[in-house]
Amino acid sequence: MVIQGNKKGNNQQNGRGIRSNFNLGLNKLVLNFNNIMQFIKLRQSYNLTNGLLDLIEYINKYSDTKKMSLVEIGSYLGESTVIFAQNFAGVSSIDPFLGNYDVDDFIGSRGDDEFNLFYEKFKENISNYTNISHFKMRSDDFKSESKFDVVYIDGEHTPDQVRKDIINFLPMIKIGGFISGHDYYEDNGFVKDVVNDIFGKPDMIFQDYSWIKKIDG
Ligand SMILES: C[S@@+](CC[C@H](N)C(=O)[O-])C[C@H]1O[C@@H](n2cnc3c(N)ncnc32)[C@H](O)[C@@H]1O
Repeated sequence: MVIQGNKKGNNQQNGRGIRSNFNLGLNKLVLNFNNIMQFIKLRQSYNLTNGLLDLIEYINKYSDTKKMSLVEIGSYLGESTVIFAQNFAGVSSIDPFLGNYDVDDFIGSRGDDEFNLFYEKFKENISNYTNISHFKMRSDDFKSESKFDVVYIDGEHTPDQVRKDIINFLPMIKIGGFISGHDYYEDNGFVKDVVNDIFGKPDMIFQDYSWIKKIDG
């Protein structure tokens, strides 16, 4: 997820605005707690959960997701991971939990210390789900012998990495499966540009700006 900003720099919606709200002089724990709370509020205000549920409902029209495998690139606090785990047979989560991967991104500009805390929260959030396997690595380093029914891309949102993630993971999708991801925004639209460049257009875009494309061969 990239926090999409409006052009007026509204603090509620603009990643940089939100970032500037953090007083770096505060105790780190308070900063981290605020960061997580901000993200949770943003998650609600951007309909992130409902968007993912709509995406899952869409896939279910083709086939029962409870019998499917999904791989998620970028898990952060594990909220999306848990939603997937509640609806899929198996979920593979790939996230290296390393800081400073994208200075222009609300989450990507956080340091290693904060990512250590995010990782602890992630582990706590997924702890009740035996159908989640976590791979603490960058998506570029992930290899799989078996193919997945669904790939969901929400890792590093630079155009180069989004392109690499799509190209690298396409061969890991079963025929009839789906590739999908987050951040198909109209404005700061590099995910949109990359997705459109590769696929023409996605089959569907959801209320949280998730996108999906069926892979038919
Ligand atoms: C926007 S957050 C994911 C949010 C999560 N999917 C959700 O909806 O709650 C992006 C995550 O991608 C991870 N990430 C960054 N670069 C990555 C890479 N190359 N491979 C996998 N994950 C990556 C970050 O560590 C971060 O946790």
